[in-house]
Amino acid sequence: MTNDARHPDARARAPLPAVNSYTEWDPLREVVVGSLLGGVFPDWQESMERVVPDAARPVFRELGGAPLPAGLLKAAEEELEGLVAVLEGHGITVVRPDAVDHEVPFGTPHWSARGGLYAGMPRDLLMVVGDAIIEAPMSWRCRHHEVDAFRSLIKSYFRRGARWLPAPRPQLTDELYGGGADGWAVTEFEPVFDAADFLRFGRDLVVQRSHVTNDFGIDWLRRALGPGFGVTVVETDDPHAMHIDATLAPLAPGKLLVHPERYVPHEVFAGWEVRPAPPPTLPREWPMYFCSPWVSMNVLSLDPETVVVERQEQPLIEALTEWGFRCVPVDFRHVYTFGGSFHCVTLDTVREGGPGRYLGVP
Ligand code: GLY
Repeated sequence: MTNDARHPDARARAPLPAVNSYTEWDPLREVVVGSLLGGVFPDWQESMERVVPDAARPVFRELGGAPLPAGLLKAAEEELEGLVAVLEGHGITVVRPDAVDHEVPFGTPHWSARGGLYAGMPRDLLMVVGDAIIEAPMSWRCRHHEVDAFRSLIKSYFRRGARWLPAPRPQLTDELYGGGADGWAVTEFEPVFDAADFLRFGRDLVVQRSHVTNDFGIDWLRRALGPGFGVTVVETDDPHAMHIDATLAPLAPGKLLVHPERYVPHEVFAGWEVRPAPPPTLPREWPMYFCSPWVSMNVLSLDPETVVVERQEQPLIEALTEWGFRCVPVDFRHVYTFGGSFHCVTLDTVREGGPGRYLGVP
């Protein structure tokens, strides 16, 4: 072994597979950052009723397939570029999706959509588990072709050794909607999930049932991952449930940031320190088409000590700093408008570390 190889930096930069990410917190090497360019309003479907803000419903009904407001979009794109610069400044490789035309209407023999949506939230669509990239079977019809913007990236990762697991293509016919068990917007007609309903803890994943994720989808993923991984369904107290990453945010082994009302204690987190996130600081009148201001806690870990946090979420920055984290503040409120924050707009393709066990599961 040379002196160089013994140096901590040399160890930290040791080569890793093209895709390697087991947790939400291991040191980040490469990440996909989404793009909102060319984004359009989603075409309305009834299953959106319980997940989008009240004010967004008439907009989607009227303007589905029409371009998102140019001024707001430009401000959000500038913030995304700001995030890219910060990540690259930390030595992290950033890759971006392809530009695609989201305004093109499309359909199947059973339904049609007046357009797509955007390539802004890869976390909703894609999941990296170890060396595998999983394509989620999303239940919003307008998102049926969202993967197109990411396909050249996925093919490139596959050619460099990653496993590629697209879930069965959902039919999204009317049987999927219209009142599932327990009031969920999707039935058990076929497997559906959004990748953002899952969180990764080494060999264990945690998932919430939601208005876009059904038990069939969870079972599909469990079986696709095989016996090397465990998938635990946790209850959350969220009548609008869609995406677990504004409800639970594991920041380091044993440190779980939670939404103060949505979090329901679960035995998998035995031994973890659980702290509630302070309320968001977003002004009430801020335009929000897709989600609540609680995307304030949708932070991105650069390593187990460092998190990217929205610059104006001062109470959260103070709480995390007091908890021992280094916060990297980035402006991101205009991105909130379009449905998420740092965790949503990214897909961590390469983190250091391997398949550890962190949860209290047998
Ligand atoms: N979907 C998470 C939120 O809107 O808070």
